[in-house]
Amino acid sequence: MRDYVYMDYNATTPLRPEVKETMIAAFDVYANASSMHEAGRRARAEIEKARASVAALVGAPDPATIYFTSGGSESNNTVFQTMYDIGRKGTSRSSARRKILTTAIEHPCVMNSAAYLAEEGFPVVFLPVDAYGKVDMEVYKRELTPDTLLVSVMAANNEIGTIEDVKEMVRLAKAQGAYFHTDATQAVGKIPVSVTDWGVDYLTMSCHKIYGPKGIGALYVRKGAPITPLVRGGHQENGIRAGTYNNLGIIGFGKAAELAAADLSAFSARLWVLRELLKKELTSRIPMVKVNGHPTDVLPNTLNISFPGAEGESILLSLDLEGIEVSTGSACASGSLEPSHVLIATGVGPELAHGSIRFSLGKYTTEEEVLYVAEKLPPIIARLRRMSTLSPVAPACAN
Ligand SMILES: Cc1ncc(COP(=O)(O)O)c(C=O)c1O
Repeated sequence: MRDYVYMDYNATTPLRPEVKETMIAAFDVYANASSMHEAGRRARAEIEKARASVAALVGAPDPATIYFTSGGSESNNTVFQTMYDIGRKGTSRSSARRKILTTAIEHPCVMNSAAYLAEEGFPVVFLPVDAYGKVDMEVYKRELTPDTLLVSVMAANNEIGTIEDVKEMVRLAKAQGAYFHTDATQAVGKIPVSVTDWGVDYLTMSCHKIYGPKGIGALYVRKGAPITPLVRGGHQENGIRAGTYNNLGIIGFGKAAELAAADLSAFSARLWVLRELLKKELTSRIPMVKVNGHPTDVLPNTLNISFPGAEGESILLSLDLEGIEVSTGSACASGSLEPSHVLIATGVGPELAHGSIRFSLGKYTTEEEVLYVAEKLPPIIARLRRMSTLSPVAPACAN
C-alpha cells in the first residue's frame, strides 16, 4: 500500500503514466499550431488527432464539434454566455425564449452562471431533486414551457454521484424547442457517454477528471447549435475560443481520452466492486449512517455517507492524520462553512449535511486500501460522537 490512501478522485485525478510520457514528448511540440510553416502544421496535426480522440470518447462523429477550453468551468460558462447573447433583449440575435431551467444540485460554475443570468433578468428555475438527487420530472415537465431557451442538467453529480436521466430529459426539451446542455465532467470516463445517443446540443468535459492534465477541457457543440465566444481574440477554434493553442494540455487530453475510452467497461466494473465493498464495510461497522445518492443510478466510484453526531471537517482531518484523503463535498465548496447545497437539495438537514463525507475511488484504489479505510474510520466516528454535544439521531432513510 502507498503511504497515503487517496480517495478524492472526483476532485481530481493523478496523471496516468502513459499520459505523462506522451506529454513529456509533447514538450518538443512547441510551434504555434496556427503557424503555416512545417512545425506549425505538425503541431496542428497533433491537436487534430487529440480532438478526434476526445470526440470518440463522447460519441461525437465529427471532431469539428469539439472545442478545446481551459476546463469544465469555462465550457459551462461558454454555454451560459451564449444563452446570454441570444436571450438578451434588443439585439439582432434576440430571442423571445429566455427561460433557463437548471437544477438545484449543479456544480458552482453552473449555479453561479445561472444566477448571473437571473440577475440580468432571465427567468431561471433551479429544478428540485428527490431524496436520491434525481430531478423531479413532474416539476421539469411543468416548467418546460415554450419560452424555454436552455435546459442545463448535469449528467452525474460530483458529490453524491447520482446519474440523471439525460436522454429522457433531452427528448422532452426537444419537443419544446429548447436547447439542452449537460455538464458531463464527472460522467465522462466513468459511464458510457454519447452525445448522439443522448441528443444533447452541448456537453461539457474536463481532462483532469480522466487522469490527464489540469487546465484543459472541451465543449461539444452540436453542428447548427448557436455558440458565441467567452474569450474573444484570434481565430482559433473557429473564433469561438481565442488564444494560442495549449499544445501540451491538448495532446495530454487526447491521450487520456484514448485510454479512458479503451478502459471504460473494465474500469467501471472494478470500481463498482470496490465501492460496494467500502459501502458494506462502513455501513456494517458504523451504526446510524446514511448513504446519500441513488442506490443504483450512481457513479461506480462515488460513495457519499452522512455520519450523524460527527462533524465532516473533523472526520476529514482525523482521516488525514491516518493518511486517508477524502472530501466533505465538492472541492470548490470546501473552505465554506455552508452545508452542501447538493445534500440540502436532497432533503438532508443542515446538521447531517455537515457530517457527510465523499469517498471517490479511482484507477489506483485497491481492496487493501478500502479495508484500511474500513478499519480506521469506525473508531474515529465513535470518538467524535463521544465528544459531540449533538446526539446521533438515526437518519430517516438509508440506501
Ligand atoms: C460536475 C463538475 N462540473 C464542473 C467542474 C469544473 O471543472 P474544471 O475544474 O475543469 O473547471 C467540476 C470539477 O470539480 C465538476 O465536478
